[in-house]
Amino acid sequence: MPSPDLEKFRIAIDAHRAKLADACAAVRDAAGLEELRNRYLSRKRGFVTLLFEDLKKFEAADKPAAGQLLNLLKTEIQEKLAALEESLRTPAAGGPGVDLTLPGERLTWGAAHPLRIFQREIESIFQEMGFGIEDGPEIETDYYNFEALNFPPNHPARDDWDTLYINDNLLLRTHTSPVQIRIMEKHKPPIRIIIPGKVYRRETPDPTHAAMFFQVEGLVVDRNVTFAHLKGTLEYFLKRLFGDKLKTRFRPSFFPFTEPSAEVDIECLACGQKDPACRVCGGTGWKEILGSGMVDPQVFKNVNIDPEQYSGWAFGLGVERTAMFAYGIPDIRYFYENDLRFTRQFHLK
Ligand code: PHE
Repeated sequence: MPSPDLEKFRIAIDAHRAKLADACAAVRDAAGLEELRNRYLSRKRGFVTLLFEDLKKFEAADKPAAGQLLNLLKTEIQEKLAALEESLRTPAAGGPGVDLTLPGERLTWGAAHPLRIFQREIESIFQEMGFGIEDGPEIETDYYNFEALNFPPNHPARDDWDTLYINDNLLLRTHTSPVQIRIMEKHKPPIRIIIPGKVYRRETPDPTHAAMFFQVEGLVVDRNVTFAHLKGTLEYFLKRLFGDKLKTRFRPSFFPFTEPSAEVDIECLACGQKDPACRVCGGTGWKEILGSGMVDPQVFKNVNIDPEQYSGWAFGLGVERTAMFAYGIPDIRYFYENDLRFTRQFHLK
């Protein structure tokens, strides 16, 4: 049977033990640690020292047990304080072991890719004109990529798009035009949208070709829409992008899904239309950047829009080639190499 004195002693020791964890957690620095050490272990007034004084008052029979209890508490405190001292020295433990006088680590901020920045510029010009933004799948069926766009099976015009096939029916879309069909199937006119996105072609990469690149498609369908709207809108857009004085040229062309069709050239800004040996325009003074035309009546029939009531126009713009021209970038592959010396040049805008 332990004596009442021994029982009281045990309770006092347990009370100190219970406060120990909180006391340690409150320590923030070496001074706090020193203060705590003194509180428990100071040779004059430390709790543990005082308890050792009490020990003297015990009956001989109780002394060994009381001494053992107290010694256990003392080692426990010593171990805790040692661990605390260690953690204050190690930065990983969250202590102020960091040398605050050292220079900081430089943070590297992420930023939008140059092509994304350019695409947003294009989007915002069209958004101001009331266009919405849509997208569609990059894996397409033959129907949407070709047939609904008025390319009959085996028609030679398909050869103009070097297609990457997944199987007989599925392919990687070669242009953003299939999204025209998907939108017109779902929405009644009026339609006024642009469709930015990736397209794929079987190309060997060189300074002006890549197997994946970006286009921005445009589509307007309503009553009484004319070629004049197409011309006015595209001219306005290109002037916003390249400046008011930009010269543009519409050249007759052919696409199965537009009639009539036109390719749009802008004046060569590299040579100012003056250098017969210019490497950018090949001496022609012009640079082709988009295809366009009035939506072919057959395309409207394919999506159950009545060509007698509605008319429309569409365009497809090559984003990289336009950006290359706008920024004077000589090789399309620079866009995809992620060389920071290249991409960083576009982040200061
Ligand atoms: N889809 C065509 C291309 O990739 C461009 C285009 C779009 C032409 C819309 C006319 C109308 O070359």
